[in-house]
Amino acid sequence: MARVLVTSELPEGALDPLAGHDLVQPASDDRLARDELVEAARDVDAIVCQLTDRIGAELFEAATRLAVVATCSVGYDNVDVTAATRARVAVCNTPGVLDETTADLAFALILSAARLLSEAEREVRGGTWTDWQFTGHLGRDVHGATLGLVGYGRIARAVERRAAGFSMQVLHHSRRPTGAPGYVADLDSLLPQCDVVSLHVPLTEETRHLIDARRLRLCKPTAVLVNTARGAVIEEEALADALEAGRLFAAGLDVYEHEPAIHPSLLAAPRTVLLPHIGSASVATRTAMARLATSGVADVLAGGRPPNTVNPEVF
Ligand code: GLV
Repeated sequence: MARVLVTSELPEGALDPLAGHDLVQPASDDRLARDELVEAARDVDAIVCQLTDRIGAELFEAATRLAVVATCSVGYDNVDVTAATRARVAVCNTPGVLDETTADLAFALILSAARLLSEAEREVRGGTWTDWQFTGHLGRDVHGATLGLVGYGRIARAVERRAAGFSMQVLHHSRRPTGAPGYVADLDSLLPQCDVVSLHVPLTEETRHLIDARRLRLCKPTAVLVNTARGAVIEEEALADALEAGRLFAAGLDVYEHEPAIHPSLLAAPRTVLLPHIGSASVATRTAMARLATSGVADVLAGGRPPNTVNPEVF
């Protein structure tokens, strides 16, 4: 029987794969602070964590029994994988089970940002909608527009499938040639062609602030930018400036550089739809993600090599 630290509440049934193990769960709903997490990890064999838990090198140094960390997210920028590999700890994530749900949300943001739904709803709720105006609330059409996908993994391709239903022309950029129609090798030449840009890259040192002030200037002033990937892919202040100055039409954001804090200039920026990182938040998908994470842990503890291991070289 192994000891498994589960850092937060999981959906019903998600802990089933860990039956028979000794589960350590924080007593309160409060997130463990970074030092509390290190303390709690000292005498466990496995950790099931969330993208909000920072699993850094100091944890791997302290947690000498640790064999596996499974984050209930497809992104694993919260885990220092280099330090994990050095400590011969497997890191598992949740690929494949959240693509469609996250693509649904990305498409919801494309539609709501392009059609200025947040501002329109605010007017209704705030009682300031006093008259119907022919020239009021004028957004941009999504149907027939050109969509640029930055990154071309499973979620981006799921967004592309939805775009077909809206007769959109779809281009994509990825570091390596994809061989698929619509590939644009240079991000700087993709951006000026797009009416909608949707980000689908993981956060790495190469993608941090990929969309900066210079690249925002390459976008059409009529363009809509959507981010369901990681907040730090965008330089947020530059985005807010572009929106304020009318150099970008609208933005739909689900993720932020310093969650849950939101850059004050983004909160104040016009034509912006802001969501609280809910890309994969459906009952079915969050349950599937948690089960994939706990199954990965159970598998490693039983001597297996789960396919959702991001550093299989540890085996
Ligand atoms: C969500 O952001 C995830 O990485 O799963």
